[in-house]
Amino acid sequence: MDFKQAIAQSVLDAVIKAFGESSLTAPEYEALLELPPDPAMGDYAMPCFKLAKSLRKPPVAIAEALAAAIDADYLDRAEAVKGYLNFYLDRATYARNIVNAVLDANGRYGSSNIGEGKTIVIDYSSINIAKRFHIGHLSTTMLGNALYRMYKYTGYNCVGVNHLGDWGTQFGKMIAAYKRWGDKETVQNGGVDEMVKLYVRFNNEAKENPALNDEGRAWFKAIEDGDEEALSIFNWFKEVTLKDAERVYDILGVTFDSYAGESFYNDKMQPVIDELAEKGLLIEDQGAKIVDLKDYGMPPAIILRSDGATLYATRDLAAIRYRRDTYNFDKCLYVVAYQQDLHFRQLFKVAELLGWDCAKGCEHVNFGMVSYEGQSLSTREGRVVYLEDLLNTSIEKARAIIDEKSPDLENKDEIARQIGVGAVVFFDLYNNRIKDIDFHWDRALNFDGETAPYVMYTHARCASVLRKAGELTDEPDYSALSDPDAQNVIRLIEQFPELIVEALNRSEPSMITRFSVDLAQAYNKFYYENRIIDAPPAVRAARVNLTKAAKSTIAIALDLIGIAAPERM
Ligand code: ARG
Repeated sequence: MDFKQAIAQSVLDAVIKAFGESSLTAPEYEALLELPPDPAMGDYAMPCFKLAKSLRKPPVAIAEALAAAIDADYLDRAEAVKGYLNFYLDRATYARNIVNAVLDANGRYGSSNIGEGKTIVIDYSSINIAKRFHIGHLSTTMLGNALYRMYKYTGYNCVGVNHLGDWGTQFGKMIAAYKRWGDKETVQNGGVDEMVKLYVRFNNEAKENPALNDEGRAWFKAIEDGDEEALSIFNWFKEVTLKDAERVYDILGVTFDSYAGESFYNDKMQPVIDELAEKGLLIEDQGAKIVDLKDYGMPPAIILRSDGATLYATRDLAAIRYRRDTYNFDKCLYVVAYQQDLHFRQLFKVAELLGWDCAKGCEHVNFGMVSYEGQSLSTREGRVVYLEDLLNTSIEKARAIIDEKSPDLENKDEIARQIGVGAVVFFDLYNNRIKDIDFHWDRALNFDGETAPYVMYTHARCASVLRKAGELTDEPDYSALSDPDAQNVIRLIEQFPELIVEALNRSEPSMITRFSVDLAQAYNKFYYENRIIDAPPAVRAARVNLTKAAKSTIAIALDLIGIAAPERM
């Protein structure tokens, strides 16, 4: 039962009963309904001010007339307060409806098909070849993953793209370094670390011996010209990098539908450059080709450098066009740090100037920076935290906590992995994405804080209640869920489906993260205030069903943000 819809219909009936006719329809009344800030003011409220004109009565009188005329068995009462009509649902009916909605959904409560027929491209993680996967890429990876899951859950067709940073003159230098000092086995076994060493050595030696740079340039040209040896080394660098990254993606449970990165667009830029020229957008500036964006308060977008080289932006333009033609997307989200705000504003503006309709669907989902235990991270100064190390440390720490708190737990390794990874991901997705994050171990792994371990523990507590309860034989008496603590849990659960949609509209998975904490806290309060297992059978049945509903909703919320919910901890 959809209470908003039902109330709207009851209001319509009451208006006709009290005033003879209604100028508004039921859906229009539904749109007027609000959630009062305080449940003492009712479950829903309708301001009557908008009705004053058509009913030719002051709002206060309208609210009073409607409160008297309204009659519905799912309502406990309707009260008129200062021009508002406040609706109080019958507590037992409300509880039964919400709990059953969760149980009937079989683990998919809050899912929908609002996205049916629509396609969302999500560009996320987008790591760089021959660079280590460090915590600077955590947010893009986990935000993108969460958005991907949330869009899927609401029926959209999703395309997850890892737009690899696999183009640039540095790769010429790396090949030169590899040819001089590298050897196959060392790089194969040492992975990205070995490539980075080669690159650093190259840059150091080039200071003494500038001729090396010519060698680097020559190799880069060779890649561009499709030279067989250059390409095979370059592609092998890619393979090795991706193999390293794949380990991290495995730990995180993140996957992609496409790895088409910058180099994928090598042969797809010319048509875009031609189109820019045809449409009179491309102008010459000191040998370079640019699109002037002065009128929009932005520096020009450089399309071709004076030596004819293409740029990051040129590739991104080609990527928009390719994604449009390949996926016919409704939206294309770029989950990239706010340092690239200008880049994306320029990019979308150029797409719009080209008259590409799809530009409207392009959106930069930006986010803040991550620091670590109070220290900003800087590759240049050698202060980097590798994501794989961070995750493994977290798993070890979780394991130590388990060994201490639940030494008899089965599957300790697996559960330590779920808690350790969950703690990092949750910490990353807890605040509004635009905020900078300072990662702290004692906060991420605190079992009593607003953390993954706390929410996961609450889920495991629900599971334990259900194991102890066993099979239910009695009809639940839902009036046993009339107390404020049970009602708080129910109210939160009721709001979850709309919250998912709202979180998507704002590209803000943190709303789901916070919801999981609110629900866990509400459930724990209910748990401490009420007897469950040893309550009379009909009461027990109702409280156990509420526990089932809370458990399922917590698990869904965690799953949407990419976190597991173990049955035992
Ligand atoms: N590789 C880039 C970086 O690490 C992010 C790429 C984002 N995606 C894009 N289409 N530009 O900063």
